[in-house]
Amino acid sequence: MNIVLGITGGIAAYKAPDLVRRLRERGAEVQIVMTNSAEEFVTSTALQAVSGKPIRSNLWDKEAEAAMSHIELARWADVVLIAPATAEVMARIVSGGAPDLLTTICLATEAPIALAPAMNRVMWSNLATQANREVLEHRGIHIIGPGIGSQACGEEGAGRMLEPDLIAATVFNLTGGKGQGLLEGKKVVVTAGPTREPIDPVRYITNRSSGKMGYAIAGAAVAQGADVVLVSGPVNLREPPGTEVVNVESAEEMYAATHAAIEDADIFIAAAAVADYRPVAVVKQKIKKNDEAMSLELTRCPDILASIAALDVAPFTVGFAAETENVVEYARGKLEKKNLDMIIANRVGRDCGFDRDDNSAIVLWDGGEREFPTSSKVELARNLIELAAEHFYAERGSETQPGLTVITNND
Ligand code: PMT
Repeated sequence: MNIVLGITGGIAAYKAPDLVRRLRERGAEVQIVMTNSAEEFVTSTALQAVSGKPIRSNLWDKEAEAAMSHIELARWADVVLIAPATAEVMARIVSGGAPDLLTTICLATEAPIALAPAMNRVMWSNLATQANREVLEHRGIHIIGPGIGSQACGEEGAGRMLEPDLIAATVFNLTGGKGQGLLEGKKVVVTAGPTREPIDPVRYITNRSSGKMGYAIAGAAVAQGADVVLVSGPVNLREPPGTEVVNVESAEEMYAATHAAIEDADIFIAAAAVADYRPVAVVKQKIKKNDEAMSLELTRCPDILASIAALDVAPFTVGFAAETENVVEYARGKLEKKNLDMIIANRVGRDCGFDRDDNSAIVLWDGGEREFPTSSKVELARNLIELAAEHFYAERGSETQPGLTVITNND
């Protein structure tokens, strides 16, 4: 894979040599294109040494352009990755401006473009930056991260560039280099989002799930080389690149779509917030408000997770437990009752779990547990997929694991 790696002027540029190494380890040819401000944070000498190619930075460099012009570079790229991507370069790409070599390549390439944003948390949450992110995503540009945590400026929040190995794995698998990573050759089915249980033609019962956790899980599985089917309730999210998405509305539809996808699946992860109950009957016309009170008769929805775990040939089955109290106790109960291989317990409420970019979790399995403190859902999903893969191979046979030694941590 030919990668044009754009480096722009942020402190996270110090991670660029490591990122180049990670991309080259996966067999990529990397041509670095730096902006002038990137040179303030990382030297072209170091980058040339790790990439093995002269660094490009100037659109008007006659000698370099004679060797490979900016148009040839744009055609050569199988993917253009910008890491770190500053707020400035995001804005420039949105506007279609091309004042330097990197943005000119972005304008001239037909290859997929991926950005790994890195900036101060206030700059990231600024409405202008968020509007630019939305436009970029709408145009099909992959936004990888950012992560949440302590920042170089001393603040804490969303805006850190994700770690180089995660960026490399994501880029590689999102853009056709599929087939590398912990889940190479494995099929993973994920459910995500809420369900809607109709009451009448205009009303339904639903919940506050945004789908962000499940979509991040699906993306993390793709980044580890898996073939991913994402069965999604109604959400407002872009489909994670590289996944096959099956859109559904109700719990019954999700049940049917999940069972249709599950044959030959290796791992099933149920991140969806599926309704437990639905109205017994859907009223044909809009219900009128004639009486002071009314009641709805509800009946149980099928339990998708329990039904998959009960299959004769069940995949490695991972549930979520959304709890407002006694999180670990209730989750362990669900692990046992539904006969799961693993359960991811997360506290939910007005200010945690649902419809946010961050989450924390305690993962439980027979005889062990591991806690993950609050991080972005993207980072948490990456950790959860690594842990699930580790246990999957430990339980289902490490001989199928691509080139890795299994270390099971039961502490
Ligand atoms: O979507 P987000 O806004 O990002 O929020 C993420 C999340 C909080 C929804 C997610 O992290 C989460 O906890 N998902 C599971 C929500 C849930 O329904 O939990 P539960 O404890 O009620 O259900 C336990 C498990 O059974 C879940 O894996 C659920 O998918 C599954 N289930 C539940 C009911 C049902 N009828 N069928 C099921 O498969």
